[in-house]
Amino acid sequence: MQDFAREAETLRAELRRHEHLYYVLDQPEISDAEYDALIRRLREIEEAHPEIETADSPTGRVGGAPREGFAKVRHSAPMLSLDNALNEGELRDFDRRVRELLAGAEYAYVAELKLDGLSMAVAYEDGRFRQAVTRGDGTVGEDVTENARTIRSLPLRVESAWASFEVRGETVMNRRAFERLNAERDEQEQTRFANPRNAAAGSLRVLEPRVTASRRLDYYTYFLMTGGRFALPSHWASLDEMARMGFKVNPHRKLCASVEEVLEFCAHWEMHREDLPYEIDGVVVKVDSVAQREALGFTSKAPRWAIAYKYPARQERTTVIGIEVQVGRTGALTPVAHLQPVAVGGVTVSRATLHNEDEIARLDLKIGDEVIVERSGDVIPKVVRVWAQGAGRTAFTMPANCPVCGGRVVREEGESARRCINVDCPARLKESILHFASRGVMNIDGIGEALVDQLVDRGLVKSVADLYQLTGAQLATLDRMGEKSAAKLLAHIARSKLNPLPRVIAALGIRFVGGRTATLLAEALGSLDAIAAASADDLQQVKEVGPKVAESIVQFFREPRNRELVERLRAANLDLTYLFDRPADGPLTGLTFVLTGALPNLSREQAKALIERAGGKVAGSVSKKTSYVVAGEDAGRKLDKARALGIAVVDEGTLRSLIEGRA
Ligand code: IVH
Repeated sequence: MQDFAREAETLRAELRRHEHLYYVLDQPEISDAEYDALIRRLREIEEAHPEIETADSPTGRVGGAPREGFAKVRHSAPMLSLDNALNEGELRDFDRRVRELLAGAEYAYVAELKLDGLSMAVAYEDGRFRQAVTRGDGTVGEDVTENARTIRSLPLRVESAWASFEVRGETVMNRRAFERLNAERDEQEQTRFANPRNAAAGSLRVLEPRVTASRRLDYYTYFLMTGGRFALPSHWASLDEMARMGFKVNPHRKLCASVEEVLEFCAHWEMHREDLPYEIDGVVVKVDSVAQREALGFTSKAPRWAIAYKYPARQERTTVIGIEVQVGRTGALTPVAHLQPVAVGGVTVSRATLHNEDEIARLDLKIGDEVIVERSGDVIPKVVRVWAQGAGRTAFTMPANCPVCGGRVVREEGESARRCINVDCPARLKESILHFASRGVMNIDGIGEALVDQLVDRGLVKSVADLYQLTGAQLATLDRMGEKSAAKLLAHIARSKLNPLPRVIAALGIRFVGGRTATLLAEALGSLDAIAAASADDLQQVKEVGPKVAESIVQFFREPRNRELVERLRAANLDLTYLFDRPADGPLTGLTFVLTGALPNLSREQAKALIERAGGKVAGSVSKKTSYVVAGEDAGRKLDKARALGIAVVDEGTLRSLIEGRA
């Protein structure tokens, strides 16, 4: 084998191992950057030598060419649905039927979480991922192979005892991915997905595999089949076998000797379902033995050997006692329903979003109506429908003026929201500050609603740039602000100046420009000045930037106030340039650092930026090549490893001295 082919094979094996560690076991050994570097190297080799590319290479996860539609595929055996048990009694009825039909034989159940996603069958041949098919009508599904290939927890190659086999399982989107996706869609002013299930379904069934790849789907297997039949005689054993092969099998499963144990499992997870990173809607209970399953057989539509114990939906009935209008950062007016407080799945709900006036019209909602509210993956509860019209209900109309500043409100063509167009509107300013300081943007700890209200209402902050001019004396005049907390806040604000350019761009609050677009802009254009000077045409050369986004950026920088804001941020010493190449002659050139634990003043990202700007490299794991380990509080395994290898361990202060050339 030629060297490059050998290197490619080694890289693939290494990447497969890291994918399994990260996406299946949730125990990564290397950083994202190190993973990216390995993928990049493999892609380079494959691009230079297309003859060695293989269909199951980890580089194939990015998503191939768009499709015209999905081919229909017949399942090897029907994908059935389950009968439901809605309460304990119905589950006991199920158990009684099983016991009677098995006529005195011993039996066990496997209890598994019922993930709220969509089921999919995935076929492997000679250990290689071959085809993925949605459930469809149970007999015929859709071929979503190219999309499923992008799901990182689905192995593309496995060691198996069968020449060909099939797994069945659930495709889900976890809550974090779902929230991130909806935040991105808000930013792009696209409609939100109602819940993670819809988001997973929408992401699996798009014609562009690249879109699926960006959605971070997950796949948990629960059946192992060969030739249309269960591959092993016990379900419990087949779950273990799939885990061994490298599939993601839900760890929350239990082999139960009695229905009592099953009920215990159901009760436990009903209490703890909110702690899970994904949504579940119940528990699936299956007879473990395949021989007994065969004896039990099927009714016309479902197996007699399994049942879905469903948790109650998190919906409740309550009354709308008022509708308030909130003003967002872009000036958008959002109606919010005030509700008679009601407990929905263990959380008291007293407000629910109504999105916009069209939604109120669609619901035919008036104040005084009794409504159904629902809490799903979304943090914000929503009104699903009107249950009963209230006697003496009163219609709500959107205000013609901004409820906060009294300024003019306009609804532009093609938009669902009315907007306050006063750029000085205090509500808009407050929201802009909260956005600027928020986690994932400038990350300034300690800036919350109550503080922002005071800062704006007392005229201390008239623009986000004023944050960098705040003094201890000014802060001391605020309610609930001691000397200590004022000093801490100023330190957090000062520290935010170290944020890299993509964050600064995202912090400006340009419409349609969120974190991802900000990074792509910074990478492509290199500085804020270059972005501000770019024409709409230039901007559209940037990956993922279309005419709408480009126009919004141009508009933003055309506004003199925004240009002034940029100048003030520059004067405050924020970094408005983006580093492409590490300097070859910095104080840290040639040194490799590993960060571990929480540093007192720097976030991990900031420490990394500091090191890289000084010419150093940051690696994710400790090896003999590591020059220094920078350790903070709660440093873990990496610190142990550094000690074992005899690598120098330094703190944040020493890191700074090294950068300043003092150590
Ligand atoms: S077993 C014939 N196990 O729930 C057995 N299903 O109502 C069918 N589901 O269509 C499936 N988690 O989409 C099974 N651990 C689990 C599951 C699960 C979620 C879904 C699946 C199925 C539906 C059955």
